[in-house]
Amino acid sequence: MINNPFTYPRAFDLYRNKSKYKWIILFVALIIGLASIFYTNRLVSQLKEREKRLIELYAKTLEYNANQKDNQNLGFIFQEIIVPNNSIPVILTDGGGNPLDHRNLNLKASLTEIEKQELLREKLEIMKEEHEPILIRFEDEGSNNYVYYKNSRLLDQLRYYPYVQLSIISIFGLLAYLAFNYSKTAEQNRIWVGLAKETAHQLGTPISSLMAWLEYFKTVERVKDPELIQELEKDVARLEMITSRFSNIGSTPLLNYEDIHQAVKNTVSYLQKRISSKVVFKVHALPVDIRAKINKPLFDWVIENLCKNAVDAMAGEGVIGIDIRKAPDGNVMIDLSDTGKGIPKSKLRDVFLPGYTTKSRGWGLGLTLVKRIIENYHQGKIYIKSSEPDAGTTFRIILKV
Ligand SMILES: Nc1ncnc2c1ncn2[C@@H]1O[C@H](COP(=O)(O)OP(=O)(O)OP(=O)(O)O)[C@@H](O)[C@H]1O
Ligand SMILES: [Mg+2]
Repeated sequence: MINNPFTYPRAFDLYRNKSKYKWIILFVALIIGLASIFYTNRLVSQLKEREKRLIELYAKTLEYNANQKDNQNLGFIFQEIIVPNNSIPVILTDGGGNPLDHRNLNLKASLTEIEKQELLREKLEIMKEEHEPILIRFEDEGSNNYVYYKNSRLLDQLRYYPYVQLSIISIFGLLAYLAFNYSKTAEQNRIWVGLAKETAHQLGTPISSLMAWLEYFKTVERVKDPELIQELEKDVARLEMITSRFSNIGSTPLLNYEDIHQAVKNTVSYLQKRISSKVVFKVHALPVDIRAKINKPLFDWVIENLCKNAVDAMAGEGVIGIDIRKAPDGNVMIDLSDTGKGIPKSKLRDVFLPGYTTKSRGWGLGLTLVKRIIENYHQGKIYIKSSEPDAGTTFRIILKV
């Protein structure tokens, strides 16, 4: 990667705050959810209290009516006020628990008397679990009746309302988040692809021109210096390689079965000449043929980026080990380790984010590109297998076969 020639404005600090915002939003959502559940629960308990008082009133009126049979007014209050305003299912039983009367149960009119009794007893069992019955005493007869009741439908609905509401809101929130994420990824893809295509396109013209000049120089007597021509050819070849990297990133790259060991060795020998001689490469692979489907220019770019990061982490001195293996499931595994300063545990996820860099002249794009190439273009995987502070880091690439 090209080094950034000016002080890097950390516009990407947003990324570091992103997870903080996520937590804040989640926290606020949790508070709202809890507050709404708490508030509805309060409403429910108030309503419950009211229903209980209404039933007590109902029982009291029954009791009063029975004990003072001549009270006309009370009969009126009962029939006209209490009964119509009451949607609470009620069963009145005698002292032995046999149903005598019921209200608000919505029993079918077609039921026979026996079926009705059976149903009432069933409902009674449910009511017994919900609330204590209210006792009605008959003074003259010395016997008791009981009023059993159940929460009204309204109360039951209100109890479940916040959970239903919160579930619907959460599902909606999740869908909105996924849609947003999807459109963000799609936009990022377009930018990567568009920029890469444009770069490849713009480099194309001067490179063809350079190649033409080179051919011309070979024929001109004055500049027939083989060494100079050779160096120029190397540079042009390098430029062509850069162009092919960008044009591959900018399109759907073709994948071919390639010898991975050979590909790695080529990149390493290219790099070795350009970095400190105090960096030792140790490439290890079993003598068997290990092949995987790769796009060569892009794969080279991956190895180059990882090696450059390793060199930086070791401050130009240490060992870079590359271990190529075939996993039992047939996939190809490449472990690239260094003896550098390592990555702190808290930063292990951040290193792949665009813009994350600890270098004064870094762009923080190297690993983003690497991840993109391996995962989007090769359907493989890359992750940090291990990292020890001041001991080194190992990246693992898995290429599916
Ligand atoms: N092998 C490694 N050992 C220790 N830290 C590493 C290693 N590889 C990457 N990092 C950390 O991850 C950060 C991001 O790496 P990345 O390659 O994405 O960007 P960069 O190297 O800083 O800049 P550039 O865009 O020029 O590559 C680095 O700045 C460094 O802190
Ligand atoms: Mg880098």
